[in-house]
Amino acid sequence: MAQPCDIAIPDVFGPIQIGSLEIAHPFVQAALSGYTDLAMRRIARMHGAAYCVNEVVLDKSVLHDGPWQRKLLTVEPDDHPVGAQLMGGDPTTFGPAADKMVTAGYDVIDINFGCPAPKAQNRCRGGFLLSEPETASAIVRNVVDAVRGRCPVTLKMRRGLNDSPESERNFFEILDLAYSLGVAAVTVHGRSVEQRYRGPSNWDFLAKVKRHAGSRTVLGSGDLFAAYDCIRMMEQTGVDGVTIARGSMGNPWIFNQCLQLASGKADVNSLEAPTIQQQRNTIIRHFKETARLHGKEKAGKLMGKFGVRYASHHPKRKRVREAFSRGSSTEQFLEVIRIWYDEFT
Ligand SMILES: Cc1cc2nc3c(=O)[nH]c(=O)nc-3n(C[C@H](O)[C@H](O)[C@H](O)COP(=O)(O)O)c2cc1C
Repeated sequence: MAQPCDIAIPDVFGPIQIGSLEIAHPFVQAALSGYTDLAMRRIARMHGAAYCVNEVVLDKSVLHDGPWQRKLLTVEPDDHPVGAQLMGGDPTTFGPAADKMVTAGYDVIDINFGCPAPKAQNRCRGGFLLSEPETASAIVRNVVDAVRGRCPVTLKMRRGLNDSPESERNFFEILDLAYSLGVAAVTVHGRSVEQRYRGPSNWDFLAKVKRHAGSRTVLGSGDLFAAYDCIRMMEQTGVDGVTIARGSMGNPWIFNQCLQLASGKADVNSLEAPTIQQQRNTIIRHFKETARLHGKEKAGKLMGKFGVRYASHHPKRKRVREAFSRGSSTEQFLEVIRIWYDEFT
């Protein structure tokens, strides 16, 4: 596969601006809780992702001394540009947490107003805040004040709490307030909080947001499972870029494929799928990065959820998937690689 840096892409898929930060192209690694740790971000960048967002973290965990905090506040030199995504329900703790993340070296502070998990709803966090414009605005104001222009502040939003007109009014009220407070860009997932993952992401809503936002940067999210979906979302809705979520799990090749399509080097029919050897190299690299981050003992278990996703590229996908899902140790994980990737002909 061609390397991302070899590829010239037309203006429409060219660099995007997030405040003062220029992102090389519009294909972004979305925040994925339990997935987009440093290891997955490195793999995404290696395959062409222009910008990666860390998994969501609670503002309170950033403020709580301990090993987890130290991990969160370590940003590696090869992990840029990287966004820190924060979630919480109390405006007063958001600001100090954002301050720590910027000081640690994150390039963007992204505020989560989208998480639909019942736990987040019960604790008045994430997507719940789409129904609370006043609290949401207080959070944005505190974060913008704490960051003091050192990096851009962005929002991640779902299209609303539900399908009611009030929900849509709240969405645009929060969006307008956020822009007026200096928020540089928003990512919008076209599902409602109540919808969770049922039914399609509403791309018409994304088009409406982009028309409303004018020249301000809007990134789209929802139902981006293949490179062609990313191009189609940009063309159909006018959003400036896309954040690739489930479509990137066990499929980092999607970034390079987006670049191939955007540059006209390939069309949907001529896109290169990864060979078994390429799959193996990527999985092993991902495993090694995970081992560096979390220790070799834990790496095999942690890689299981990625393995079942990577398996979808293998000619014997069902059997490989089963093999990955049965393993729970590093030895078992490496045995699956040996049988299904090293020795497979
Ligand atoms: C396992 C999983 C974890 C997620 N974690 C986060 C997160 O930490 N922060 C966030 O803003 N969105 C998170 N999302 C939402 C995605 O970023 C994205 O908006 C959503 O999956 C819709 O895109 P898709 O339909 O292309 O997957 C998560 C989604 C999944 C499936």
